[in-house]
Amino acid sequence: MAKGKIVSYTNPTAPASEAFRALRTNLQFLGLSDPVAIVAVTGAGAREGKSTTASNLAISIAQAGKTCILVDADLRCPVIHRLLATGTQPGLSDVLLGQTAPELALHNTWVPGLRVMPSGQLPPSPSDLLLSPKMGELLADLRSRADMIVIDTPPIGLVSDAATLARIVDGYLLVLGAGHTTRDLARRAKQALETVHARVLGVVLNNMSGQPEYRRYGYGGYGTYGKDNERRRGHGH
Ligand SMILES: Nc1ncnc2c1ncn2[C@@H]1O[C@H](COP(=O)(O)OP(=O)(O)OP(=O)(O)O)[C@@H](O)[C@H]1O
Ligand SMILES: [Mg+2]
Repeated sequence: MAKGKIVSYTNPTAPASEAFRALRTNLQFLGLSDPVAIVAVTGAGAREGKSTTASNLAISIAQAGKTCILVDADLRCPVIHRLLATGTQPGLSDVLLGQTAPELALHNTWVPGLRVMPSGQLPPSPSDLLLSPKMGELLADLRSRADMIVIDTPPIGLVSDAATLARIVDGYLLVLGAGHTTRDLARRAKQALETVHARVLGVVLNNMSGQPEYRRYGYGGYGTYGKDNERRRGHGH
């Protein structure tokens, strides 16, 4: 079931898979002058396709013969473990809390060359945990274990989690839901990125038209992001 959701894996010749390969190639070219090895995927608002994009990009990198680690740093609404069919623990939060070693939190996937570090247990204050110096140390450690690190994060227009990574990632990929990102959220995202002097590597305009349910989902106010999503999805993993 989970595998069926990742087009780059299930249907490598689909136009969407081709788009993700192009994205991967573009990132490589961007890195010619200034290496791009650690990419955070974020977006302005909720449910715009960040996790889908991060997963497809990571698979596409592995399919090109590079080793990749996909980190679920959405410690509010983690889904990477579902998309890539791994366990949730041990994961990122467990490593940051000093409860487990990084290598124990890396889970193999069905894609050769791609490993996942899932969220781990959900902490009470995700931004603080991501802000800890341990996060920088961890990324440096992961960088020595793979060619590229892709990090899935919550929307930067709603919560500060993604922005806290600015100094320890090479750049951000911004995913915007075509026709769904409100002007206000886009402005907030832009502000948040500017405040931390983020390097924006590219913008992915995700066409969400295949998902009629989308419009029912409220964006929620700042800080309600996790709670909204939890309610929608139930609490189980
Ligand atoms: N291009 C698309 N067409 C149709 N459905 C899509 C598309 N992109 C994503 N979806 C679906 O939309 C939903 C939300 O996608 P995803 O989880 O990737 O978004 P997100 O931005 O990570 O959400 P969140 O803010 O909750 O982290 C998922 O059910 C996903 O399968
Ligand atoms: Mg997500």
